[in-house]
Amino acid sequence: MSIALLADVHSNIEALGRVFEDMDSRGVSRIVCLGDVIGYGPDPRECLKMLFASEVAIMGNHEEAVMFYGEDFNPKARASLEWTKDQLNSTDHDRTENYDLWNFLGTMQQVVEDEDVMYTHGSPRVPTREYVVPADSRNTEKMAGIFDLVKKVCFIGHSHIPHIYTSDMKHASPEALGGAIDLRKLGDDRKVLINTGSVGQPRDGDNRASYVTFDGNIVRFHRLEYDVQTTVDKIYAQERIPNFLADRLLVGR
Ligand SMILES: [Fe+2]
Repeated sequence: MSIALLADVHSNIEALGRVFEDMDSRGVSRIVCLGDVIGYGPDPRECLKMLFASEVAIMGNHEEAVMFYGEDFNPKARASLEWTKDQLNSTDHDRTENYDLWNFLGTMQQVVEDEDVMYTHGSPRVPTREYVVPADSRNTEKMAGIFDLVKKVCFIGHSHIPHIYTSDMKHASPEALGGAIDLRKLGDDRKVLINTGSVGQPRDGDNRASYVTFDGNIVRFHRLEYDVQTTVDKIYAQERIPNFLADRLLVGR
């Protein structure tokens, strides 16, 4: 049975709703959530509630920041962080519901391993912090250090760039691989790191929602058009969320 892997939803309920529709049409209901459900976008409560059903819930840097600290956040990210925190504590909602939201955040783990498949937000070395980006494939020391911690497969998010990295220092975009990779072709000696891309704030120049499905052998990347303008308008309507965070959704950067 396939699972869906979702990362970096960033409070974008329009994108997340579209992903759920697509999962439904594929008969996929099991979800691994790779972190950053919240932050940046206008619907943190709705996105968290929609993901209560996740089988695995990984903590992103935005969840970590809302629960503990966000000193290293830039001013725009910090503004949305403070707004998000207020939303989660909002007295306009039932206290029990607020408790459920915070409780869900409290269950999130930094790294989860299921046999030879690992899930984390940034990298296995520094789960909520370290980015892995295509240029890192030239940084042998960094990639070797990361792959040392991976048994076979590791799914990540954080960079918002869907990509595949292998332990022989090769890397590829999903498009270059025809949108899917059969892990059986890696053989016994190669390990793989798979970034699922971002559901709610893609940064690879394609503004469509990104997620993957995995049946134990084949990883499939999916891109979905959604009603970006509605999300953009909601952000514009929130004085405390910088407009820049809306504008970037339109261009996927
Ligand atoms: Fe993120």
